[in-house]
Amino acid sequence: MRKSAVTVILTVAIAAILGGCGQKTWETEVNEKTVQVSASDVDGTDNQEESSAQSKILIAYFTWADNTVVEDQEAAVDSAMAHYESMGDAAQYGTDAISSSSVVAPGNAARLGEWIQQEVGGDLFSIQVNDPYPSDYDECMDRASEEKAENARPKLTGSVENFSDYDVIFLGFPNWWYTLPMPVLSFVEQYDFSGKTVIPFCTHGTGGLSATVRDLEAALPNSATVLEPLGVYRADILGAQPQVQAWLKDLGFTE
Ligand SMILES: Cc1cc2nc3c(=O)[nH]c(=O)nc-3n(C[C@H](O)[C@H](O)[C@H](O)COP(=O)(O)O)c2cc1C
Repeated sequence: MRKSAVTVILTVAIAAILGGCGQKTWETEVNEKTVQVSASDVDGTDNQEESSAQSKILIAYFTWADNTVVEDQEAAVDSAMAHYESMGDAAQYGTDAISSSSVVAPGNAARLGEWIQQEVGGDLFSIQVNDPYPSDYDECMDRASEEKAENARPKLTGSVENFSDYDVIFLGFPNWWYTLPMPVLSFVEQYDFSGKTVIPFCTHGTGGLSATVRDLEAALPNSATVLEPLGVYRADILGAQPQVQAWLKDLGFTE
């Protein structure tokens, strides 16, 4: 079931207070917004001793630009623009072909991740494969298609330190072949998401979210709570910061 962020955080906070351990104040910060529940509100005591804990946020994302090696930028950008042309939505993109192509860093999911961090803080993590994808759009599509058909779990490089410390995980990805890029499943299966709050953000072409969020929910343990996802059409990415801000406000992270 999807809940608002504040509901989830407050539930965790109150459970922690009732758990006792001499903690007097439980404080969870979501950027400038601080939800504070005093222990005396719950148990009527008035102990001077104070300690606090913060809700720790991770913003992990997979983006093509961090998972390819661009040797010939012009050819890579042209291959993306030719694809948009073939999809019939090339006219929707801005005149900045390099930014629109998404093959040159920062990728679209990375842009969204950075805007999320500006609002809520937290740590950014770029999910990266051991074996980079082609920088030619069609060749990348072919490899992604094969990986989907094989239900592959591409090997990742790097890892999140102290994953268990994070309570809230924003998880970003492009729609690849109507679902998650397979490396996102590698990532989800590599860590223990039990009890985590997971907030998906997806960037996509004409297919919208397709089955991305459904397939993510299926890969997560039942004890993970998935909040309302953000979906941003790739042609809208460059102007999408207000959409990100409005979504975070709706979720209760900002005022
Ligand atoms: C391999 C591949 C497969 C894609 N499949 C889809 C798709 O099925 N539906 C869709 O709407 N967009 C699809 N796209 C478009 C991406 O979702 C879109 O361009 C996204 O904004 C890219 O984000 P990124 O820059 O973070 O990688 C695909 C792109 C690639 C490279």
